[in-house]
Amino acid sequence: MKTIIEPFKIKSVEPIRINTKDERLKILKKSYYNLFQVRSQDVIIDLLTDSGTGAMSSNQWSGIMKGDESYAGSDSYLFFRDSIRETFGFKYILPTHQGRAAERILFSTMCKKGDIVPSNMHFDTTRANILAQKAKPLDLIPDKFKDTQYVDPFKGNMCIDKLIDFLSTADLSKVPLIMVTITNNSGGGQPVSMENIKNIHSVAKKYNIPFYIDACRFAENAYFIQQREIGYSTVSIQDIVKEMFSYADGCTMSAKKDGIVNIGGFLCTNNEEVAEKNKNLLILTEGFTTYGGLAGRDLEAIAIGIKEAMDFDYLNYRVKSIEYLGKELLKSNVPILQPTGGHAVYIDASLFAKHLDKSQYPGQALACALYVEGGIRTSEIGSFMFGGINDDGTEYFSDFELVRLAIPRRTYTQSHIDYVAEVIQLVYERRDELKGLEITKQSKYLRHFTGELKQIG
Ligand code: F0G
Repeated sequence: MKTIIEPFKIKSVEPIRINTKDERLKILKKSYYNLFQVRSQDVIIDLLTDSGTGAMSSNQWSGIMKGDESYAGSDSYLFFRDSIRETFGFKYILPTHQGRAAERILFSTMCKKGDIVPSNMHFDTTRANILAQKAKPLDLIPDKFKDTQYVDPFKGNMCIDKLIDFLSTADLSKVPLIMVTITNNSGGGQPVSMENIKNIHSVAKKYNIPFYIDACRFAENAYFIQQREIGYSTVSIQDIVKEMFSYADGCTMSAKKDGIVNIGGFLCTNNEEVAEKNKNLLILTEGFTTYGGLAGRDLEAIAIGIKEAMDFDYLNYRVKSIEYLGKELLKSNVPILQPTGGHAVYIDASLFAKHLDKSQYPGQALACALYVEGGIRTSEIGSFMFGGINDDGTEYFSDFELVRLAIPRRTYTQSHIDYVAEVIQLVYERRDELKGLEITKQSKYLRHFTGELKQIG
C-alpha cells in the first residue's frame, strides 16, 4: 500500500477558531512579535512545539482514572518505574515534572563552575541549565552538518574526531559528563546512529567520563536507526531502544515528547552515588521520590505513552507525515533543512529571506509572517533563541536561522498539513517583502520566551 493512514480514530475534538489576517496582525503587534505571547485561541494551527501538545490515547486516559495518588509508594509509581526500567534498562529512576527539572538536578549534582559539557548539540533548556551552573555547553557536530542542504542519514551524529580532540587536551577534571541529544532537536530533529552512540560510549569509557543521553525523542531516533542503519532493519524498535541506552550511564527525559503526555519527565542513572544526590535534590525542590512533582495519574499516562511511542505503525505514520510536508514545500522550492527530521520540518530562514541578515532575525521575521498569513504558530530556532549579549555588550549569533514546524503527536490530520504547506508557499512567493526585526527587551537566559521585538522600518 502506498497510502499511509493515521493509525488512530478521533474520539474527542477541540474546535479551531478561524480569525482574519487583520485580527492576526493586531494580535502580533500586541504580542511584540513574540509568538510565545499569543493566546492559543488566536492560533489556527499550532506548530510551536511537539512538547506536551500531543493527544493521549484512550488507554492513557483510562490510566489517568486509575492513578494512585498516595504520597509514598503508590502503585502508579511502581508501574511507571517498571515500565521505564524495562524500556531503558537503568537502575535508578526518578520522576520529574518535565525534562528541564531532570536537567537541573543532574547538572546541579554533576557540574561545577568552569566545567564543560560536550554534546552533539544541546537544546535551549539543557544549555541554559548548564550555564546556570556557571559551566559551559559545547556543541560538537561535524562542520558539514551546518549546511542545511547537506543530506546525511544520521545528521544528528556527534563528530567523534572533535570529541577526541577536545578530550585529549582538556583538563578532564572539568568534564563531568558527555551528553548526546536524540534526536538532535536544535539541528533539525536529526537522528544519531547506533554506531555513533557506541563510539561516544567507547570514548567516554576511555577517558572515564559518564555518558548521558537527552532522550526526549528516543523512539523517533530508534525508528530512523531501524530504517536507515545497516544491520537493524529486522530489529524491533524496543530492542533498538534497549541497545541505544545500554551504552549510556543515564538519561534525562521529557515525557512530553516521546512519552506522549501533556506533562512529565524522568531522570535515570546507573550510578548509586549520583542517584543518591539526585534523590536528595528531588525531594528538596520537586517532591518525594515516588512522584517527583507529578500526580500518580501522570505517572500512569507516561508508563503507557512510552510504550505506545514505540509502536511501529505509529512511528511510520509520524515520520512519513513529516516527510510529506517537507516534500510539499520542496515542490515550490521552499528551502528546508534536509532531510526532514523526526518531529518537525525546519525552514532555513537565511535562505528563505536572503535579504535579511542575522541581526534582523530572519527566522523570527518569517515565523511572524506565517502567523499573519495563515494563523500558523511556529518557533524560531536561530539567533533570537540561541544568540545573546556578550559580557562586552556585543551580540553573538546562532549558526542556524531556522523556523521549526513542530508537529504535535496524533493531533493534526493531513488536510491541516496541506493548509500549512499552502500558507508557507504563499509567504514564499512574497518573500522579498519580509521585514527584519529588532529586540527591544530581553532576559539573560532563554530570551526567546519573554523577549519583545519590533519591526525595522
Ligand atoms: N531536551 C530537548 C532535546 C528538548 O527538545 C527539550 C524541550 C528539553 C530537553 C526540555 O524538556 O520542555 O520537558 O523541560 N523541548 C521543547 C521543544 C520545549 O519545543 O522542543 P521540557
